[in-house]
Amino acid sequence: MADEVVKKVRTRHFQNAKANGIKITGLTSYDQLTAAIFDKAGIDFLLVGDSAGNNVFGYDTTLPVTVDQLIPLTRAVAGAVKRAFVVADMPFGSYETGPDEALHTAFRFMKETGAHAVKLEGGVRSAEQIRRIVSAGIPVMAHIGFTPQSEHQLGGHVIQGRGERVEQLLADAHAVEEAGAFAVVLEMVPAEAARRVTEELTIPTISVGAGPHTDGQLLVWTDWAGLTSGRIPKFVRQYADLTGVLTDAARTWTADVASGAYPGPEHSYED
Ligand code: KIV
Repeated sequence: MADEVVKKVRTRHFQNAKANGIKITGLTSYDQLTAAIFDKAGIDFLLVGDSAGNNVFGYDTTLPVTVDQLIPLTRAVAGAVKRAFVVADMPFGSYETGPDEALHTAFRFMKETGAHAVKLEGGVRSAEQIRRIVSAGIPVMAHIGFTPQSEHQLGGHVIQGRGERVEQLLADAHAVEEAGAFAVVLEMVPAEAARRVTEELTIPTISVGAGPHTDGQLLVWTDWAGLTSGRIPKFVRQYADLTGVLTDAARTWTADVASGAYPGPEHSYED
């Protein structure tokens, strides 16, 4: 959507983008500084993902993340944007017991953060939750394929929808569309499976490691910017080396302090 003159991205712009073959871009964000930068740069939507578990809180998985942890991060991101559409991720344990719990969590994000939509994981199994949230007037971004909150059940970071299992992927995709989701994230599925889903659905598909044939692309910003100590997934292209930049800056500053090169006279106050 980058070239379109859009003052504020709305759900209808996702739909227009699909109809006109314009690619949608999304990045995760967990704070107001990156949110403001990505917003000004024209990223269409910012996901305050439960990947904050790994990238902010230092957990090994997203499972321990709570609603109370994500609310202040989401508020910071939503408060920093002028154009981008902000999606709040519903963490593990905040919607699975049924539509009532899901709606309660969605209400919290919408009332307490200023987010524009919520995201939750699961296809057929989450359709009733999506239907209830949408019926309350809250846009839902669905998330199928590899769903990190189920990583123990899925046996780790395993590609989904291969071979005959594409039928389950399609069933999940149709279930979330039918339940009222305005877009669906496809994570770690083969490119051809993602193409089939994209062709069959009327709502836009967003790839996270699902190849080029979807309506949009989403990446975890720290992977994309090279600010990570962990393993970078195969599907990520690094657009910066922030680990290198910050390491060099920290080493140079340490050396300057040791040698007396910092602070200089220009950094000191007059009496
Ligand atoms: O939390 C997150 O960052 C996500 C994306 C990987 C889709 O859910």
